[in-house]
Amino acid sequence: MQNTDSLFDVSNEIVVITGVSGQLGAEYARAFLERGSVVVGLDLKPSAFSETLHASFPERFDFMVADVTSGASLRSALAELKAEWGVPSVLVNNAAIDSPPSAPLEECGPFESYPEASWDKVLDVNLKGTHLCCQIFGGAMAKQGRGSIINIASIYGVVSPDQSLYEYRRARGEIFFKPVAYAVSKSGLLNLTRYLAVYWAKRKVRVNTLTIAGVFNNQEQAFLDGYCGRIPVGRMAKAEEYCGAVLFLSSNASQYMTGANLVIDGGWTAI
Ligand SMILES: NC(=O)c1ccc[n+]([C@@H]2O[C@H](COP(=O)([O-])OP(=O)(O)OC[C@H]3O[C@@H](n4cnc5c(N)ncnc54)[C@H](O)[C@@H]3O)[C@@H](O)[C@H]2O)c1
Repeated sequence: MQNTDSLFDVSNEIVVITGVSGQLGAEYARAFLERGSVVVGLDLKPSAFSETLHASFPERFDFMVADVTSGASLRSALAELKAEWGVPSVLVNNAAIDSPPSAPLEECGPFESYPEASWDKVLDVNLKGTHLCCQIFGGAMAKQGRGSIINIASIYGVVSPDQSLYEYRRARGEIFFKPVAYAVSKSGLLNLTRYLAVYWAKRKVRVNTLTIAGVFNNQEQAFLDGYCGRIPVGRMAKAEEYCGAVLFLSSNASQYMTGANLVIDGGWTAI
C-alpha cells in the first residue's frame, strides 16, 4: 500500500502517536505503518490493538509506556526513541479521556455539581498532556527544523454537546448530562494549535487541529437513533475514516497549512 506520490509520502517519517492503545490511535498507527513510517506508540499500557500492531509490524512499531500528564515520563520516552529511531517528525496528540457512559453519577450529573476533581483530571490529560507532548516532542522537532503536529479535537470542542441526544437516558430515570470538562479541554486545543503554529512557523514545525465526530463503537440503539438523526450524513464515522486526514496533515500535501482546524464531521457543525 506504499504511496508513490511524493505529495502524500510518509515512508520516511518517524511518527509518535499518543493513546495508541485506543481505538483511533491504533487505526492511525496502522495507516502510517502500512505506508512505510516508523511508529512509536505511547500509552499507559499496551492493549490488544497495540499488540496486534507489534505482531504485524515488528520492525517499525515500537510501544513505550508513557503518561502524557508527566513531563518526566515523556522526556524519558523521547530519550529512548531518539536513541532507537532518531528525532520524531510527526506527533499525533490523540490520548484523551472522556466520561464513559458508565461514569459515576456525580460526573454526569448537572453542571452545577460537576466535581472539581473530574475537571482537574480531564484537563490534566486532554489539555496539559497535549501541551507537554508539544513541548517535549515538538521542541525536539523545532530544534531539528522539521515536523508536523496534529492535535486531535472533537466537534464538542467547536460547538456545545447537544444535551437533547441524552434525553432518552433522562426519560428512563437516569441523571445524565454530557459533562463540561471534555468539551472545554478540546476547545482549548484550538488555540494551543494556533499559538504553536505561529511560534514555530519559522522553525518549520507545522501545527494543526483535526476535529472529528463520533465513531461507531456498538453504542446503544437509543443513542444511535438520536445521533444519526442529528448528523447530516445519517451515520457515525468508521474508525478508519479519519486516517486520510491524519496522513494529509503529516505529509507534503499540507505543507502550506498551519494553525488550521480541519473538521471531518459528517456535516455535524454545518448545521
Ligand atoms: N471515539 C470517538 O467517537 C471520538 C470522537 C471525537 C473525538 N475523539 C478523540 O479521538 C481521540 C481518540 O479517541 P478514542 O475513541 O480512540 O479513545 P480511547 O479511549 O479508545 O483511547 C484513548 C487512549 O488514550 C490513553 N490515555 C488516557 N490517558 C492517558 C495518559 N495520561 N497518558 C497516555 N495515554 C493515555 C488511553 O489509555 C487510551 O488507550 C481522543 O482524543 C478523543 O477525544 C474520539
